[in-house]
Amino acid sequence: MRLTLQTAGDTHEFGLRLAAVLRPGDLVILTGPLGAGKTALTQGIGAGLGVEGRITSPTFVIARTHRAGAAGVPLVHVDAYRLETLDELDDLDLDTDVEAAVTVVEWGAGLAERLAESHLEIAIERRADEVREAVLHARGGDWAARLASLDLPVVSAA
Ligand SMILES: Nc1ncnc2c1ncn2[C@@H]1O[C@H](COP(=O)(O)OP(=O)(O)OP(=O)(O)O)[C@@H](O)[C@H]1O
Ligand SMILES: [Mg+2]
Repeated sequence: MRLTLQTAGDTHEFGLRLAAVLRPGDLVILTGPLGAGKTALTQGIGAGLGVEGRITSPTFVIARTHRAGAAGVPLVHVDAYRLETLDELDDLDLDTDVEAAVTVVEWGAGLAERLAESHLEIAIERRADEVREAVLHARGGDWAARLASLDLPVVSAA
């Protein structure tokens, strides 16, 4: 399904709403070019989960853990843009149990499909000016049902 995100605020709001269906152990992969809004979307998710700490572009650290707030679910934010394969993630030695956290990975396009396990992929495309389009791919699990339950303002089923 495809969503139009007119402004950065829309992207934040989408993250907020998405957070409502996220659970411990979830993996969300964000793809898209530089400045697409991957971090902006992660900030919305973090706000929705109510996690601690400001979510920023981790330039020097590849992964950062945000401690759980009231919802009780921490957020692991990974900027894997520079990683070649997801196997390298295993080598990061995250100081967090990813089974207990929601993990959001910012990823360059073209690599995420190598993943076999259940995850949600969100590809953000830059259109004109501020406008972004998010294409949601439910990969396994019950992602499709969860997305349907969000009742998002979908533009097309693509
Ligand atoms: N509709 C929109 N959705 C998201 N961000 C938008 C939108 N319109 C404008 N912006 C702006 O675009 C920028 C997106 O930056 P952001 O850091 O989130 O991108 P990114 O995909 O994480 O980039 P990077 O590849 O460097 O990690 C922000 O400055 C944001 O305010
Ligand atoms: Mg980013």
